[in-house]
Amino acid sequence: MPLNILILGGTGFTGPEQVEYALARGHRVTLFNRNRTRPGLFKGRVAEELVGDLNDDVSALAGRKFDVVLDNPTTFPAWVRNAATQLKGNVGHYIFISTMSVYPDNSRPDMDERDGTTPMPADVDPYTLVRENAGKYYGALKSFAEQEAERQYPGRVTVVRPGLIVGPLDRSDRFTYWPARINNGGDVLAPGTPDDPTQWIDSRDLAEWMIRLAEQQVLGTFNAVGSVRPMQELLYGCKAVTTAGAQFTWVPAEFLTAQGVRGWRHMPVWLPPTGATAGFLRRNNDRAVKAGLTFRPLAMTASETLAWHKTRPEAEQKATSEGAIAGIAPAKEAEVIAAWRAKQATGGPTND
Ligand SMILES: NC(=O)c1ccc[n+]([C@@H]2O[C@H](COP(=O)([O-])OP(=O)(O)OC[C@H]3O[C@@H](n4cnc5c(N)ncnc54)[C@H](OP(=O)(O)O)[C@@H]3O)[C@@H](O)[C@H]2O)c1
Repeated sequence: MPLNILILGGTGFTGPEQVEYALARGHRVTLFNRNRTRPGLFKGRVAEELVGDLNDDVSALAGRKFDVVLDNPTTFPAWVRNAATQLKGNVGHYIFISTMSVYPDNSRPDMDERDGTTPMPADVDPYTLVRENAGKYYGALKSFAEQEAERQYPGRVTVVRPGLIVGPLDRSDRFTYWPARINNGGDVLAPGTPDDPTQWIDSRDLAEWMIRLAEQQVLGTFNAVGSVRPMQELLYGCKAVTTAGAQFTWVPAEFLTAQGVRGWRHMPVWLPPTGATAGFLRRNNDRAVKAGLTFRPLAMTASETLAWHKTRPEAEQKATSEGAIAGIAPAKEAEVIAAWRAKQATGGPTND
Protein backbone atom coordinates (compact mmCIF):
# COMPACT_ATOMS: atom_id res chain seq x y z
CA MET A 1 0.00 0.00 0.00
CA PRO A 2 1.50 3.41 -0.97
CA LEU A 3 2.66 5.50 1.97
CA ASN A 4 2.38 9.24 2.42
CA ILE A 5 6.02 10.03 3.28
CA LEU A 6 7.52 13.30 4.52
CA ILE A 7 11.28 13.53 3.97
CA LEU A 8 12.99 16.23 6.00
CA GLY A 9 15.93 17.30 3.84
CA GLY A 10 16.03 14.97 0.86
CA THR A 11 18.33 16.83 -1.52
CA GLY A 12 21.82 16.27 -0.05
CA PHE A 13 23.41 12.83 -0.09
CA THR A 14 21.31 10.02 1.39
CA GLY A 15 18.05 11.90 0.93
CA PRO A 16 17.96 11.79 -2.90
CA GLU A 17 18.42 8.02 -2.80
CA GLN A 18 15.45 7.73 -0.41
CA VAL A 19 13.34 9.85 -2.75
CA GLU A 20 14.24 7.82 -5.84
CA TYR A 21 13.54 4.49 -4.14
CA ALA A 22 10.29 5.69 -2.53
CA LEU A 23 9.01 7.03 -5.86
CA ALA A 24 10.00 3.82 -7.64
CA ARG A 25 7.89 1.89 -5.12
CA GLY A 26 4.86 4.06 -5.69
CA HIS A 27 4.88 6.13 -2.52
CA ARG A 28 3.74 9.74 -2.24
CA VAL A 29 6.74 11.89 -1.26
CA THR A 30 6.76 15.37 0.27
CA LEU A 31 10.04 17.20 0.88
CA PHE A 32 10.72 19.82 3.52
CA ASN A 33 13.96 21.84 3.38
CA ARG A 34 15.27 25.40 2.97
CA ASN A 35 15.40 25.10 -0.83
CA ARG A 36 19.14 25.83 -0.80
CA THR A 37 20.71 22.45 -1.59
CA ARG A 38 20.02 21.52 -5.24
CA PRO A 39 16.76 23.45 -5.52
CA GLY A 40 14.39 21.89 -8.03
CA LEU A 41 16.14 18.49 -7.95
CA PHE A 42 12.81 16.66 -7.82
CA LYS A 43 10.64 19.31 -9.45
CA GLY A 44 7.48 17.74 -10.81
CA ARG A 45 8.39 14.31 -9.44
CA VAL A 46 7.47 14.63 -5.75
CA ALA A 47 4.00 15.50 -4.52
CA GLU A 48 5.10 18.67 -2.73
CA GLU A 49 8.25 20.63 -1.97
CA LEU A 50 7.69 22.49 1.29
CA VAL A 51 10.10 25.29 2.13
CA GLY A 52 11.06 26.14 5.69
CA ASP A 53 13.81 25.81 8.25
CA LEU A 54 13.88 23.25 11.06
CA ASN A 55 15.72 25.85 13.08
CA ASP A 56 13.04 28.52 13.12
CA ASP A 57 10.27 28.16 10.52
CA VAL A 58 8.22 24.97 10.36
CA SER A 59 4.97 26.70 9.44
CA ALA A 60 4.80 24.90 6.08
CA LEU A 61 4.15 21.67 8.01
CA ALA A 62 1.01 23.02 9.68
CA GLY A 63 -2.12 20.93 9.38
CA ARG A 64 -0.50 18.08 7.46
CA LYS A 65 -0.62 14.36 8.19
CA PHE A 66 1.91 11.74 7.14
CA ASP A 67 2.22 7.98 7.51
CA VAL A 68 5.94 8.34 8.07
CA VAL A 69 8.62 11.00 8.49
CA LEU A 70 12.26 10.46 7.54
CA ASP A 71 14.38 12.94 9.48
CA ASN A 72 17.71 13.33 7.67
CA PRO A 73 19.29 16.67 8.58
CA THR A 74 18.77 16.84 12.33
CA THR A 75 21.64 17.03 14.75
CA PHE A 76 20.01 19.49 17.16
CA PRO A 77 17.28 18.24 19.53
CA ALA A 78 15.51 21.59 19.08
CA TRP A 79 14.90 20.69 15.41
CA VAL A 80 13.00 17.55 16.43
CA ARG A 81 11.03 19.61 18.93
CA ASN A 82 10.33 22.40 16.43
CA ALA A 83 9.02 19.98 13.78
CA ALA A 84 6.89 18.28 16.41
CA THR A 85 5.06 21.53 17.16
CA GLN A 86 3.32 20.88 13.82
CA LEU A 87 3.68 17.13 13.35
CA LYS A 88 2.91 15.71 16.78
CA GLY A 89 -0.28 13.64 16.56
CA ASN A 90 -0.13 13.76 12.76
CA VAL A 91 2.59 11.17 12.16
CA GLY A 92 2.37 7.38 12.27
CA HIS A 93 6.09 6.61 12.27
CA TYR A 94 9.22 8.75 12.76
CA ILE A 95 12.52 7.47 11.39
CA PHE A 96 15.52 9.40 12.63
CA ILE A 97 19.02 9.19 11.12
CA SER A 98 21.40 9.28 14.03
CA THR A 99 25.03 8.16 13.86
CA MET A 100 27.51 5.60 15.14
CA SER A 101 29.22 8.60 16.76
CA VAL A 102 26.71 8.38 19.62
CA TYR A 103 28.97 5.68 21.09
CA PRO A 104 31.79 7.13 23.20
CA ASP A 105 33.54 3.79 23.67
CA ASN A 106 35.15 2.39 20.53
CA SER A 107 37.68 0.19 22.25
CA ARG A 108 35.89 -3.16 21.89
CA PRO A 109 34.95 -5.05 18.71
CA ASP A 110 31.44 -6.30 17.99
CA MET A 111 29.56 -3.85 20.24
CA ASP A 112 25.85 -3.67 19.47
CA GLU A 113 23.00 -1.21 20.05
CA ARG A 114 22.97 -1.86 23.82
CA ASP A 115 26.30 -0.05 24.17
CA GLY A 116 26.02 3.22 26.13
CA THR A 117 25.66 6.53 24.28
CA THR A 118 27.31 9.87 24.99
CA PRO A 119 25.47 11.89 27.65
CA MET A 120 24.98 15.63 27.34
CA PRO A 121 27.18 17.42 29.90
CA ALA A 122 25.07 18.58 32.85
CA ASP A 123 26.02 22.24 32.36
CA VAL A 124 24.98 22.31 28.68
CA ASP A 125 21.42 23.03 27.52
CA PRO A 126 21.01 20.80 24.44
CA TYR A 127 18.13 22.89 23.12
CA THR A 128 20.17 26.07 22.84
CA LEU A 129 23.27 24.67 21.13
CA VAL A 130 23.92 26.19 17.74
CA ARG A 131 25.85 25.10 14.67
CA GLU A 132 29.19 26.24 16.11
CA ASN A 133 28.86 23.60 18.84
CA ALA A 134 27.79 20.80 16.56
CA GLY A 135 31.25 19.29 16.14
CA LYS A 136 32.17 19.41 19.80
CA TYR A 137 28.93 17.84 21.02
CA TYR A 138 27.98 15.84 17.91
CA GLY A 139 27.60 12.44 19.62
CA ALA A 140 25.78 13.88 22.64
CA LEU A 141 23.48 16.01 20.44
CA LYS A 142 22.53 13.11 18.20
CA SER A 143 21.96 10.91 21.23
CA PHE A 144 19.76 13.55 22.86
CA ALA A 145 17.91 14.11 19.57
CA GLU A 146 17.16 10.36 19.42
CA GLN A 147 15.60 10.66 22.86
CA GLU A 148 13.76 13.82 21.85
CA ALA A 149 12.18 11.93 18.95
CA GLU A 150 10.93 9.26 21.37
CA ARG A 151 9.58 11.99 23.72
CA GLN A 152 7.67 13.63 20.87
CA TYR A 153 6.40 10.45 19.17
CA PRO A 154 6.37 7.78 21.89
CA GLY A 155 6.30 4.21 20.61
CA ARG A 156 6.54 5.34 16.98
CA VAL A 157 10.27 5.90 16.51
CA THR A 158 12.98 4.09 14.58
CA VAL A 159 16.56 5.20 15.16
CA VAL A 160 19.06 4.35 12.46
CA ARG A 161 22.73 4.80 13.41
CA PRO A 162 24.92 4.71 10.31
CA GLY A 163 28.66 4.32 10.25
CA LEU A 164 30.54 6.10 7.46
CA ILE A 165 28.04 6.67 4.63
CA VAL A 166 29.67 6.35 1.21
CA GLY A 167 28.77 6.48 -2.45
CA PRO A 168 27.88 8.92 -5.22
CA LEU A 169 27.07 12.47 -4.01
CA ASP A 170 29.38 12.16 -0.99
CA ARG A 171 31.57 15.24 -1.09
CA SER A 172 33.44 14.44 2.14
CA ASP A 173 36.00 12.27 0.27
CA ARG A 174 36.19 9.92 3.25
CA PHE A 175 35.60 6.96 0.95
CA THR A 176 35.83 8.58 -2.49
CA TYR A 177 39.55 9.16 -1.94
CA TRP A 178 40.29 5.45 -2.39
CA PRO A 179 38.67 4.74 -5.78
CA ALA A 180 39.86 8.15 -7.02
CA ARG A 181 43.44 7.61 -5.81
CA ILE A 182 43.65 4.03 -7.04
CA ASN A 183 42.28 5.12 -10.40
CA ASN A 184 45.30 7.45 -10.68
CA GLY A 185 47.64 4.43 -10.51
CA GLY A 186 51.23 4.27 -9.25
CA ASP A 187 52.45 3.49 -5.73
CA VAL A 188 49.55 3.80 -3.31
CA LEU A 189 50.22 4.16 0.41
CA ALA A 190 48.11 1.54 2.20
CA PRO A 191 47.58 1.82 5.95
CA GLY A 192 48.42 -0.74 8.61
CA THR A 193 48.17 -4.37 7.60
CA PRO A 194 46.06 -5.90 4.80
CA ASP A 195 43.89 -7.58 7.45
CA ASP A 196 43.06 -4.44 9.45
CA PRO A 197 39.27 -4.08 9.70
CA THR A 198 37.17 -1.55 7.87
CA GLN A 199 33.43 -0.89 7.67
CA TRP A 200 31.09 1.45 5.82
CA ILE A 201 27.52 1.71 4.48
CA ASP A 202 26.58 2.56 0.89
CA SER A 203 24.10 5.47 0.90
CA ARG A 204 21.80 3.54 -1.47
CA ASP A 205 21.70 0.50 0.82
CA LEU A 206 20.91 2.80 3.76
CA ALA A 207 18.26 4.82 1.93
CA GLU A 208 16.48 1.83 0.42
CA TRP A 209 16.43 -0.02 3.74
CA MET A 210 14.93 3.04 5.47
CA ILE A 211 12.05 3.03 3.01
CA ARG A 212 11.52 -0.69 3.63
CA LEU A 213 11.56 -0.04 7.40
CA ALA A 214 8.78 2.48 6.76
CA GLU A 215 6.81 0.01 4.64
CA GLN A 216 7.09 -2.71 7.29
CA GLN A 217 6.63 -0.27 10.22
CA VAL A 218 9.74 -1.58 11.93
CA LEU A 219 10.50 0.17 15.23
CA GLY A 220 13.68 0.12 17.32
CA THR A 221 17.31 1.20 17.19
CA PHE A 222 19.77 -0.14 14.63
CA ASN A 223 23.46 0.08 13.82
CA ALA A 224 23.34 0.72 10.09
CA VAL A 225 26.67 -0.41 8.78
CA GLY A 226 28.13 -2.99 6.46
CA SER A 227 29.92 -6.12 7.53
CA VAL A 228 33.48 -5.86 8.79
CA ARG A 229 35.94 -6.36 5.94
CA PRO A 230 39.72 -6.42 5.70
CA MET A 231 41.31 -3.26 4.38
CA GLN A 232 42.86 -5.20 1.49
CA GLU A 233 39.38 -6.13 0.28
CA LEU A 234 38.50 -2.44 0.03
CA LEU A 235 41.70 -1.48 -1.77
CA TYR A 236 41.82 -4.45 -4.15
CA GLY A 237 38.07 -4.04 -4.68
CA CYS A 238 38.67 -0.48 -5.86
CA LYS A 239 41.59 -1.66 -7.98
CA ALA A 240 39.34 -4.24 -9.62
CA VAL A 241 37.17 -1.48 -11.13
CA THR A 242 40.11 0.55 -12.47
CA THR A 243 42.74 -0.09 -15.12
CA ALA A 244 45.66 2.06 -13.97
CA GLY A 245 47.53 -0.83 -12.35
CA ALA A 246 47.98 0.71 -8.90
CA GLN A 247 50.34 -1.07 -6.48
CA PHE A 248 49.97 -0.98 -2.71
CA THR A 249 52.67 -0.42 -0.14
CA TRP A 250 51.42 -1.45 3.28
CA VAL A 251 52.98 0.62 6.02
CA PRO A 252 52.49 -0.22 9.70
CA ALA A 253 50.44 2.04 11.93
CA GLU A 254 53.37 3.06 14.16
CA PHE A 255 55.46 4.17 11.19
CA LEU A 256 52.54 6.18 9.77
CA THR A 257 52.08 7.94 13.12
CA ALA A 258 55.77 8.77 13.29
CA GLN A 259 55.50 10.28 9.81
CA GLY A 260 52.54 12.47 10.81
CA VAL A 261 50.05 10.37 8.82
CA ARG A 262 46.74 10.12 10.66
CA GLY A 263 44.16 7.39 10.27
CA TRP A 264 40.77 8.58 8.99
CA ARG A 265 42.04 12.05 7.97
CA HIS A 266 44.95 10.97 5.75
CA MET A 267 44.12 7.27 5.38
CA PRO A 268 40.32 7.25 5.06
CA VAL A 269 38.07 4.45 6.32
CA TRP A 270 40.93 3.18 8.47
CA LEU A 271 42.01 3.61 12.08
CA PRO A 272 44.51 1.49 13.98
CA PRO A 273 42.53 -1.52 15.26
CA THR A 274 44.13 -1.21 18.68
CA GLY A 275 43.54 0.65 21.94
CA ALA A 276 40.77 3.26 21.93
CA THR A 277 39.89 2.57 18.26
CA ALA A 278 40.05 -1.24 18.39
CA GLY A 279 36.29 -1.50 17.81
CA PHE A 280 35.66 1.66 15.78
CA LEU A 281 35.37 -0.14 12.44
CA ARG A 282 34.04 -3.39 13.91
CA ARG A 283 30.49 -2.58 15.07
CA ASN A 284 27.90 -5.31 15.23
CA ASN A 285 25.17 -5.03 12.55
CA ASP A 286 23.19 -8.21 13.31
CA ARG A 287 19.96 -6.40 14.26
CA ALA A 288 19.90 -4.37 11.05
CA VAL A 289 20.62 -7.38 8.88
CA LYS A 290 17.80 -9.29 10.60
CA ALA A 291 15.58 -6.27 9.89
CA GLY A 292 16.35 -6.45 6.17
CA LEU A 293 19.45 -4.31 5.60
CA THR A 294 21.19 -5.61 2.47
CA PHE A 295 24.45 -4.66 0.80
CA ARG A 296 25.52 -3.89 -2.71
CA PRO A 297 28.76 -5.48 -3.89
CA LEU A 298 31.79 -3.27 -3.28
CA ALA A 299 32.39 -3.30 -7.04
CA MET A 300 29.18 -1.29 -7.50
CA THR A 301 29.94 1.14 -4.70
CA ALA A 302 33.49 1.71 -5.93
CA SER A 303 32.74 1.98 -9.67
CA GLU A 304 29.66 4.16 -9.26
CA THR A 305 31.37 6.44 -6.76
CA LEU A 306 34.26 6.79 -9.18
CA ALA A 307 31.90 7.47 -12.10
CA TRP A 308 30.19 10.19 -10.05
CA HIS A 309 33.55 11.60 -8.93
CA LYS A 310 34.51 12.10 -12.57
CA THR A 311 31.43 14.29 -13.05
CA ARG A 312 32.39 16.64 -10.21
CA PRO A 313 33.69 20.14 -10.96
CA GLU A 314 37.41 20.16 -11.76
CA ALA A 315 38.27 22.00 -8.53
CA GLU A 316 36.61 19.29 -6.42
CA GLN A 317 38.40 16.52 -8.31
CA LYS A 318 41.69 18.35 -7.82
CA ALA A 319 41.00 18.73 -4.08
CA THR A 320 40.42 14.98 -3.86
CA SER A 321 43.68 14.24 -5.68
CA GLU A 322 45.52 16.56 -3.33
CA GLY A 323 43.97 14.98 -0.24
CA ALA A 324 42.61 18.40 0.70
CA ILE A 325 39.45 17.09 2.40
CA ALA A 326 40.37 13.50 3.25
CA GLY A 327 43.30 11.48 2.03
CA ILE A 328 46.98 12.33 1.70
CA ALA A 329 48.74 14.78 -0.62
CA PRO A 330 50.68 12.99 -3.40
CA ALA A 331 54.06 14.47 -2.37
CA LYS A 332 53.61 13.38 1.24
CA GLU A 333 52.42 9.94 0.14
CA ALA A 334 55.56 9.46 -1.99
CA GLU A 335 57.75 10.71 0.87
CA VAL A 336 56.27 8.23 3.36
CA ILE A 337 56.57 5.30 0.94
CA ALA A 338 60.20 6.23 0.24
CA ALA A 339 60.98 6.49 3.97
CA TRP A 340 59.39 3.11 4.62
CA ARG A 341 61.32 1.48 1.78
CA ALA A 342 64.57 3.03 3.05
CA LYS A 343 63.90 1.60 6.48
CA GLN A 344 63.13 -1.80 4.97
CA ALA A 345 66.30 -1.68 2.87
CA THR A 346 68.67 -0.77 5.68
CA GLY A 347 66.88 -2.30 8.60
CA GLY A 348 68.53 0.61 10.42
CA PRO A 349 67.10 3.23 12.75
CA THR A 350 64.48 5.65 11.47
CA ASN A 351 62.54 8.42 13.05
CA ASP A 352 59.98 6.01 14.49
N1 LIG B 1 27.93 11.24 6.07
C1 LIG B 1 28.14 10.30 6.97
O1 LIG B 1 29.09 9.52 6.85
C2 LIG B 1 27.20 10.15 8.12
C3 LIG B 1 27.45 9.14 9.05
C4 LIG B 1 26.53 8.93 10.08
C5 LIG B 1 25.40 9.73 10.16
N2 LIG B 1 25.20 10.73 9.25
C6 LIG B 1 23.96 11.50 9.33
O2 LIG B 1 23.25 11.24 8.15
C7 LIG B 1 22.27 12.25 7.97
C8 LIG B 1 22.03 12.32 6.51
O3 LIG B 1 22.48 13.52 5.90
P1 LIG B 1 22.34 13.73 4.31
O4 LIG B 1 23.14 14.94 3.96
O5 LIG B 1 22.64 12.48 3.61
O6 LIG B 1 20.77 14.06 4.18
P2 LIG B 1 19.99 14.72 2.95
O7 LIG B 1 18.57 14.77 3.32
O8 LIG B 1 20.34 14.08 1.67
O9 LIG B 1 20.60 16.21 2.88
C9 LIG B 1 20.46 17.14 3.92
C10 LIG B 1 19.18 17.94 3.66
O10 LIG B 1 18.83 18.72 4.77
C11 LIG B 1 18.36 19.97 4.34
N3 LIG B 1 18.55 20.91 5.43
C12 LIG B 1 19.72 21.34 5.95
N4 LIG B 1 19.51 22.22 6.95
C13 LIG B 1 18.16 22.32 7.08
C14 LIG B 1 17.30 23.07 7.94
N5 LIG B 1 17.80 23.92 8.85
N6 LIG B 1 15.97 22.93 7.80
C15 LIG B 1 15.46 22.10 6.85
N7 LIG B 1 16.21 21.38 6.02
C16 LIG B 1 17.54 21.48 6.13
C17 LIG B 1 19.15 20.26 3.08
O11 LIG B 1 18.49 21.10 2.16
P3 LIG B 1 18.59 22.71 2.26
O12 LIG B 1 20.06 23.03 2.35
O13 LIG B 1 17.96 23.17 1.01
O14 LIG B 1 17.84 23.11 3.49
C18 LIG B 1 19.24 18.86 2.47
O15 LIG B 1 18.11 18.58 1.69
C19 LIG B 1 22.73 13.42 8.79
O16 LIG B 1 21.86 13.58 9.89
C20 LIG B 1 24.11 13.00 9.35
O17 LIG B 1 24.30 13.45 10.68
C21 LIG B 1 26.08 10.95 8.24
